[in-house]
Amino acid sequence: MTQGDIAHTTRVVDGVLRARRSQRAYKPDPVPRSLLEEVLDVASSAPSNSNTQPWQVHAVAGAHLAALGAALVRACRDNTLPPSPHFPDPLPDEYAQRQRDFGTTYYKTLGVDVADMPSRIRQTEKNFVFFGAPVGLIFTIDRRLAPHSWLDLGLLVQNVMIAAAARGLGTCPQVSFARFHPVIARHLAFTEYELTVCGMSLGYPDRDMPVNQVATPRRPVHEFASFQHFADP
Ligand SMILES: Cc1cc2nc3c(=O)[nH]c(=O)nc-3n(C[C@H](O)[C@H](O)[C@H](O)COP(=O)(O)O)c2cc1C
Repeated sequence: MTQGDIAHTTRVVDGVLRARRSQRAYKPDPVPRSLLEEVLDVASSAPSNSNTQPWQVHAVAGAHLAALGAALVRACRDNTLPPSPHFPDPLPDEYAQRQRDFGTTYYKTLGVDVADMPSRIRQTEKNFVFFGAPVGLIFTIDRRLAPHSWLDLGLLVQNVMIAAAARGLGTCPQVSFARFHPVIARHLAFTEYELTVCGMSLGYPDRDMPVNQVATPRRPVHEFASFQHFADP
C-alpha cells in the first residue's frame, strides 16, 4: 500500500468506527436480503480461536419478525421466565457509575424522567420489537463450547455492525434477548445446542430521532492501557 492508500484507508475505517452508534429508531424501508448477506459475508472474516467460527445468525424480517416481536413483548409482560442479570449484583462502583451515566443521558435524550417507571418500561419493551427495525438478528452459540468462544462471537457481532454502518445501515446490539431464549428458540426452530447470546436491530436509521444521537463518552486511552518500554515518550 502507498502512503496515500494508507491515509485514505485510515480515514475511511476510523470514520466508520467512530461514527457507529447504537440506533434505536428506524425508517420502515426494507433491507434487501442480498445486502444483508453481503454484510454477513464480510463480517464472517472475523477471526476465531483455531478458526472454529462458533457462530450462528438468524435473520428475521416481515411477518415472522412481527410475530417474534409480539411473542417477546408478551413474555416480557408475563414476567414468568427467570431473570437473566446482565451484570453481577453488586456491580463494582466504576462500572455502576458508567451504567448510571448512560441511563441518565439515555432517558434525558428521550425526554423521560428516570423516576417515570411506566415510560422506562415502554422504552425497554421496544427492545423486543427490534426498535421498529425491518430486520432482527439473533446470534447464537453452541452451548457445549467454553466461555472463550463467546469472544469469537463478539468479534462477529462487531464486524456485522461495522460492515452494516459502512453501507449506511444502523444497528443496535441487544443482550436483552438472552432472557427470552426459550421463546426465541421456539419461534426460530433452533437446533439442540444453540443458545441465544444476543440480538441486533438492523435497518436504515431515522437519523433525525434524538434517541439515535445518544452520546456515550469513552475512557481515554491512558486510563485503560499501559505502555512499557516504548522508544518514544
Ligand atoms: C453486548 C451488548 C449488549 C447490549 N444490549 C443492549 C440492549 O439490550 N438494549 C439496548 O438498547 N442497548 C444495548 N446495548 C447498547 C449499549 O447501550 C451501547 O453500545 C453503549 O451504550 C455504547 O453506545 P454506542 O453503541 O452508541 O456507542 C448493548 C451493547 C452491547 C455491546
